[in-house]
Amino acid sequence: MKILVLYSSYMGNTKQLAEQIVEQIPEAEIQGVVFGRWRIFPHLIGIRGGNYPILDLTEYDLIYAGGPVWMERPAPGFSRLLKNLDLEGKQIKCFSRAGSGHAKLVTEKLEKLASEKKFELVKSVIISGKDTSETVEEKIKDLIAS
Ligand SMILES: Cc1cc2nc3c(=O)[nH]c(=O)nc-3n(C[C@H](O)[C@H](O)[C@H](O)COP(=O)(O)O)c2cc1C
Repeated sequence: MKILVLYSSYMGNTKQLAEQIVEQIPEAEIQGVVFGRWRIFPHLIGIRGGNYPILDLTEYDLIYAGGPVWMERPAPGFSRLLKNLDLEGKQIKCFSRAGSGHAKLVTEKLEKLASEKKFELVKSVIISGKDTSETVEEKIKDLIAS
């Protein structure tokens, strides 16, 4: 089974989570983008530039997709990353990185994207900056096991 861990990140926190997932699944490949702090304001006002990975996902059976939480929903760079790719029929496990943990619209928005892009959202987990390292480990294990 081919597994990809895909992430978008502005400041690196989601990238770090993606790397933690790959530590637990050594056969998985990893791809992603770190936009940097200078992209935050343009993305906030709807200018969604950046080097989004354009990938042929045909061979992948399972994709872990992660991105930051902004305004309680997936950040623009996370949604755009998923919107750019052909995800039809794929099984996707999402990990969203929040700061304070206010993220009540995240799973609803990802479910909407799943129905638009015709992928199966197997699981959606929110990992907060307030979580202890033990909690983060548990959430990652749970995500992998689901
Ligand atoms: C514009 C903006 C909006 C944010 N909104 C939220 C929010 O609603 N809830 C939350 O828990 N964190 C929020 N955060 C914090 C980010 O989710 C947090 O910093 C995250 O770790 C960023 O991930 P990254 O380092 O991969 O970019 C926001 C950050 C920014 C820049």
